Amino acid sequence: MTKVVAIDGPAGAGKSTLAQAVAEHLGLERLDTGAMYRAVAWNALDHGIDVRDTAAVGEMARCLRIEVGDRVTVDGKDVTGGIRTAAVDRAVSAVAANPEVRDTLVARQRQWVAERGAGVVEGRDIGTVVLPGADLKVYLTAGTGERARRRATERGDGRSVAEVETDLERRDRLDSSRAVSPLVMPEDVADDAVVIDSTGKSADVVLREVLACL
Ligand code: CDP
Repeated sequence: MTKVVAIDGPAGAGKSTLAQAVAEHLGLERLDTGAMYRAVAWNALDHGIDVRDTAAVGEMARCLRIEVGDRVTVDGKDVTGGIRTAAVDRAVSAVAANPEVRDTLVARQRQWVAERGAGVVEGRDIGTVVLPGADLKVYLTAGTGERARRRATERGDGRSVAEVETDLERRDRLDSSRAVSPLVMPEDVADDAVVIDSTGKSADVVLREVLACL
């Protein structure tokens, strides 16, 4: 029986949509680990903490209460919309490259799964670092242009597709070049992960491809 599913991939590949659908299908809960890194970045910006100040951000993350579910809260404050802004998009990779932040959040992510004994977990390093023993590992990707178009539509914040594409490419570059738990490229994905390219595919088609792997 599939109990733990890991979904990794670059920005805007459709991980959240897929994770939601897989979770519903299997009757499991879902954890969006990107929302946790975004919550830390949001709080740093809100408190005027320099996101490159490793010690200050690491300490802040350790003390921060983060709840990630239908709503996202930090220390009880609802930041569901606030974490999905261009400002957080630009700040989050620096926060995610911070080893202290990763230690804190990875421990909480493993605890989340341990408490439930199951779940669908999405991010960048879930199949490689957080849950290497997951029953199913999916690496979801899509062409940069398509990811930018989807993200621009989703956000509707006035940024053009070209601007969103530049931001996504920058974030992917930072996420895949960092020293700790980098996002791997599709060609370097471990043998035990299934790579799915969602370019030109509906969410339903992608879900069926994943379910076929169960
Ligand atoms: O939704 P999108 O794919 O744009 O990004 P996200 O999943 O919300 O993740 C936001 C950022 O958090 C990423 O760009 C990474 O810098 C970081 N992240 C990470 O380092 N490790 C994870 N497991 C999840 C996210």
